[in-house]
Amino acid sequence: MKYNNAPIGIFDSGLGGLTVFKEVRKILPDEDLIYYLDTARVPYGNKSKETVLRYSTEISKFLISKGVKIVVAACNTSSSLALDDLRKGETIPIFGVIEPGAKKAVEVSSGGNIAVIGTSATIKSRAYSRVIYEEINALKRSGEYKFKSNFKVIEKACPLLVPFVEEGFLNEEITKKVINYYLNPVVDEKPSCLVFGCTHYPILKDLILEAIGRDIQIIDSGIETAKIVKCFLEENDMLKDEAKNGSELFFVSDDLEKFKELGEKFLGRKIENVNIVNQFL
Ligand code: DGL
Repeated sequence: MKYNNAPIGIFDSGLGGLTVFKEVRKILPDEDLIYYLDTARVPYGNKSKETVLRYSTEISKFLISKGVKIVVAACNTSSSLALDDLRKGETIPIFGVIEPGAKKAVEVSSGGNIAVIGTSATIKSRAYSRVIYEEINALKRSGEYKFKSNFKVIEKACPLLVPFVEEGFLNEEITKKVINYYLNPVVDEKPSCLVFGCTHYPILKDLILEAIGRDIQIIDSGIETAKIVKCFLEENDMLKDEAKNGSELFFVSDDLEKFKELGEKFLGRKIENVNIVNQFL
């Protein structure tokens, strides 16, 4: 059975996944996209593995019931705590955001320290350092890793940043202060690159760069994931075969108007087709 013209399903706890949605839209303009935001239950980053897995499974199954051809867990917290379980028993591919970002970090770091910022749950899971070390070991085995191994992976939880984004506190003094508070110890470790291990953080990119105060390579797992999704669809002959602008459909679990207001600000354009789905609550 060919799924070419089926939509791509994307989900996150909140607005953060829009950073992935935006990148997917940019490089796959014809694809139909369905995006689910769990606005009633955001944030995920301070919840247990069991809870994040339950929420992510409900949403993933909901998207699959809408006939999507792939699901993108555009949430680092879901990707680090739930991805393996989400994939179990499903016939369609389910993508996460950790592996693409971690691999890109290894590629650009040239043996320097790698900093990763994320939610408490993502950082506690150590999902990024696991993939980073696996990748480096694989490169060493194939003789492609030319650097010393005395670099560090600096992982820092920044739990207040998601609520700031969800409240639209994008340029307030308090947001700047909290970013500085989280990032000062990270900057002291002189990282060669900084991985945004939470899809909400690209929305605060300018403030984060200001806090770092020097040129640093930023890894946006949304950009890396979008590239991998495109590559996968091409290689598996799953790209939409009608050349017409892709449609967009949004589902939120609460407060449709708030999502529209903040989402439109972030995307810089109108958001139509938003529906409330709260059957899981
Ligand atoms: N944007 C998500 C992530 O990448 C979720 C953050 C949250 O809900 O705490 O982890």
